[in-house]
Amino acid sequence: MKNALGSVQSALILGGDSDIAFATSKRLVRDRLRRLVLAGRSIERLQARAAELEAIAPGIDIRCLTLDATDFASHSEFVDAAFEKGDLDLVLVAFGVLGNQLEDEHDAASAIGVIQTNFTGAVSLLVPTADRLRDQGHGTIVVLSTVAAERARRSNYIYGASKAGLDWFSQGLGDALHGSGVDVMIVRPGFATTKMTGDLDTPPMATDADSVAAAIVDGLRKQSDVVWVPGKLRWVMSVLRHLPRPIFRRLPI
Ligand SMILES: NC(=O)c1ccc[n+]([C@@H]2O[C@H](COP(=O)([O-])OP(=O)(O)OC[C@H]3O[C@@H](n4cnc5c(N)ncnc54)[C@H](OP(=O)(O)O)[C@@H]3O)[C@@H](O)[C@H]2O)c1
Repeated sequence: MKNALGSVQSALILGGDSDIAFATSKRLVRDRLRRLVLAGRSIERLQARAAELEAIAPGIDIRCLTLDATDFASHSEFVDAAFEKGDLDLVLVAFGVLGNQLEDEHDAASAIGVIQTNFTGAVSLLVPTADRLRDQGHGTIVVLSTVAAERARRSNYIYGASKAGLDWFSQGLGDALHGSGVDVMIVRPGFATTKMTGDLDTPPMATDADSVAAAIVDGLRKQSDVVWVPGKLRWVMSVLRHLPRPIFRRLPI
């Protein structure tokens, strides 16, 4: 349960080695988080993240669990293990892959890999997770979507499609959970400088992992349904979403 000040006391991070997830974990740990489950593909990398968090909050209970978002058959057992030590106040869905648009659009296996990680994997984990949270009667699911989910762009439509599916699923899940005590918060960052985007040129209005983390923590406090990072992207995307296609196509985005 959240404490009297509304701070998250227990959390599960799916994709615990993500830069945005780690920045968020650091903020939660400083804000009195007591129990954390970090899940990801590399236990060694998760343990390194855990050691840094333990240095911030000595005595915090951190467990590291192996998770591959594309190993769907393992997800039900994984969720049981994640909830083994009791209720969780927060579940953050942070794993994801960007892919390489220009290569993946000619390589079905790679394109499927992006969709299976970002969309199918998230759905496969969110279904049993939502049931656990519904049963406990409280909690917040935070889903890292993206502005790329707002409108298909030639430059990243495979990633955008995977995240659009995730975003729509999460919107519906939030409605399905309404009244159960469980909330879903969708986070739509623009370009953030992290290891995912490390090889790319930094565009205007770029942000970073800690700014996304700050917006997540602020959104949790305000019980927001949707968080844009930076906030002005909400208005930018609102204009872009309605631009006629012949004009949209000519934009360098
Ligand atoms: N950076 C941005 O510009 C940006 C913008 C909008 C939204 N987002 C979203 O924010 C989330 C976090 O991204 P980030 O920027 O923090 O990038 P990141 O540091 O690269 O984190 C992505 C994480 O996803 C994990 N992952 C990839 N495939 C996985 C799989 N099959 N199973 C389990 N974990 C897997 C990676 O783990 P490994 O280390 O094992 O590969 C990595 O830890 C992603 O969902 C991303 O789409 C990012």
